[in-house]
Amino acid sequence: MLAVCEKHVELYKELDAYIEELKGKKGILINVLHKAQELFGWLPQEVQDHVAKKLNIPSSVVYGVVTFYNFFSTKPKGKNQIKICLGTACYVKGADRVMERFLNELGVEESEVTKDGKFSVHGVRCLGACSMAPVVLVGEKDFYGKVTPDMVPGIIKKYKGEG
Ligand code: FES
Repeated sequence: MLAVCEKHVELYKELDAYIEELKGKKGILINVLHKAQELFGWLPQEVQDHVAKKLNIPSSVVYGVVTFYNFFSTKPKGKNQIKICLGTACYVKGADRVMERFLNELGVEESEVTKDGKFSVHGVRCLGACSMAPVVLVGEKDFYGKVTPDMVPGIIKKYKGEG
């Protein structure tokens, strides 16, 4: 699945250095997985196996933890995850059209990653800001309210140049 390229070698090195720092402490698995997800963007099987080996625990234990917590992802995601709220308040204000525009502009299906790896689009439940409907969240903290389909190209453009 993962091509072994220089970039990945570097990421593994960084992960190993992090594991070294924590070694000997208790309950570090979640921290290590967080770090791994931060580095790789998701947790492919290879990375899970690597963590298991490094921590001397069975892969099945790692897999169990990864699938238990929904903040861990076993599917690739774009560098910039675009989350479109499809909760009721946003939906009635046209979130479906906003979603459609994002998918068209980026030429992807929902949850699929763009070829350059920069974006993936995900429909999510209420983001708790219904008065700003329809709302879109890019990454963890870039929040856009009252989004119209025409705003979509401008939002995408902001992140195009990154990385
Ligand atoms: S329904 Fe979209 S923020 Fe609540």
